Amino acid sequence: MKKVSIKDVAKEAGVSLTTVSQVLNDKRDRFTTDTIEKVLAAKQKLGYLPNKNAQQLRGSKTKLIGVLLPNLANPFFSTMMQSMDANKESDVDLFFLTAPEEDIEAGIMHLVERGMDGLIIAQMIKNPERLNNYLTTHRIPYVVLDQSDDHGFTDIVRTHETGGGELAARHLIELGHKQLTIVQPAHLTSNMNLRMEGFKHYCQSHNVATPKVIESTLSKAGGYAAVDDIIASHSTAVFATNDEMAIGIIRGLADKGWQVPQDVSIVGFDDIDIAQYMTPALTTVAQPIETIGEVALQLIMDKLDSTLTHRDQQSIVLPSELIVRATTARANLDNS
Ligand code: RIB
Repeated sequence: MKKVSIKDVAKEAGVSLTTVSQVLNDKRDRFTTDTIEKVLAAKQKLGYLPNKNAQQLRGSKTKLIGVLLPNLANPFFSTMMQSMDANKESDVDLFFLTAPEEDIEAGIMHLVERGMDGLIIAQMIKNPERLNNYLTTHRIPYVVLDQSDDHGFTDIVRTHETGGGELAARHLIELGHKQLTIVQPAHLTSNMNLRMEGFKHYCQSHNVATPKVIESTLSKAGGYAAVDDIIASHSTAVFATNDEMAIGIIRGLADKGWQVPQDVSIVGFDDIDIAQYMTPALTTVAQPIETIGEVALQLIMDKLDSTLTHRDQQSIVLPSELIVRATTARANLDNS
């Protein structure tokens, strides 16, 4: 998708490039009110942004891609960033940004005003239609992944979330667990909701009681804080929304004298780098984190490639995989 240029504004206003440049740079003395108004109206109509920062930052051909992520510290997202960085061409610059939930749209506008040619959005958007209108007006192509939904507007890449939840439930049920607990954040993003629905649905279709749900924040501290409720639930197994939560739960249980997996089995989600190195090593549902980054980058580069003819909207679902390690074992029914 071609971005609006100063040339487009000049054409729309029926004036020269120099006139547009001078009017927009507040050198308006020698122009009539009519000319100034025509230029400002054309700028507004086309959604033109004079990207001074971008002009300074790039050589003429460098593509700037803004990547909006929910969290830069969680290894899930840092691994993804590294993968994008490792897979980008030399004429591409990536800008990573995170914004608090209530300011995501402002974060996106910030990236647009900084002159990004395209965006990759991994954060959940509250008003996708408004965002789509904004980005379309400014002719900024974008793709979404993970927590961000496509709502039919653009390309999306995600892991098979429902399948991942099912894999976790199947593993625990096959180990004889019947009293299960889910630890999840109070506000589930749509991908996490699918994950949990997959888990619950598998329990339901295998005559296992609906899992108890404990709400906590999506972090190690959140997992740690959920431990009293986990113990009180008399569950023999726990499915944590992500690996970080699972790590906090294991630490919290250890501090209370509980052993994993002898007393409680734990399954995480993501397979972040530390999962295989901790003790006990974490059983988890792996997301193909590096591939998600690579595919998202490829999708946005395709959208920016003016030589590619129109292609259908892409919805790419990558497989999830259960990795059995040492935090799950046969149910110890004495604990229930
Ligand atoms: O660890 C971060 C979690 O939030 C992952 O499970 C990912 O899918 C995201 O939505």
